[in-house]
Amino acid sequence: MAKLIFLILMVISSLSIPIYATKTEESWFQIISNHGNEKTAKLHFYLQNLVGGENKTVYEVVRGSITSNSLFSFGSIVVLDNLITVEPDMKSEPIGRLQGVATSADLKTTAVDLNAYFYFTSGGVNGSTISISGRNPVVKNGEIELPIVGGTGMFRFARGYAIKNYTSIVENEYLLVECTIYMTYMDN
Ligand SMILES: *[C@@H]1O[C@H](CO)[C@@H](O)[C@H](O)[C@H]1NC(C)=O
Ligand SMILES: *[C@@H]1O[C@H](CO)[C@@H](O)[C@H](O)[C@H]1NC(C)=O
Ligand SMILES: *[C@@H]1O[C@H](CO)[C@@H](O)[C@H](O)[C@H]1NC(C)=O
Repeated sequence: MAKLIFLILMVISSLSIPIYATKTEESWFQIISNHGNEKTAKLHFYLQNLVGGENKTVYEVVRGSITSNSLFSFGSIVVLDNLITVEPDMKSEPIGRLQGVATSADLKTTAVDLNAYFYFTSGGVNGSTISISGRNPVVKNGEIELPIVGGTGMFRFARGYAIKNYTSIVENEYLLVECTIYMTYMDN
């Protein structure tokens, strides 16, 4: 039933997009439904993780007494500042950065507590942020889900979820992650 309602909303909203089109609508950003100022949108982009090499964007900054003896780097904290692009290609249109910290927080498997925000620097959403916070299992393959817990600028009152898709690892020191966000926010 919920799926049906969602589909109907999608159809209605696709018909009404020309009426409600805002300056934020771009290939990576689609408004799925409108209820007054409350909008539901789908965002789709790629996260460029450079974990090694001369231009690396992820740095370990803290290790605990247990970290070296832990198979899962428990207690390690890394700070990241990863480029966000519209297409998988690192040289495609840049739209912002994913900045924050990831703390290895599971004694029995590889998982981090990710506390970060998407900081957008492109056109209509320049300066706006979306906060992501939650458990991020580190997988070689597959999709994981994290909560969207808030936002600023264009994305005030944001809530929803992000799907991180780890199917497209490219090299050892380079991890490409496809990211899709479904969220509701207040357009002010
Ligand atoms: C690192 O960045 C510099 C400056 O953008 C660039 O010239 C260089 O090719 C990059 N190195 C790698 C390994 O991508
Ligand atoms: C984004 O905003 C900053 C600061 O207001 C400004 O310097 C920059 O040119 C803007 N970028 C775009 C793409 O609008
Ligand atoms: C994840 O990537 C795989 C391979 O490209 C694709 O088949 C799948 O649809 C993607 N899932 C999402 C949620 O984007």
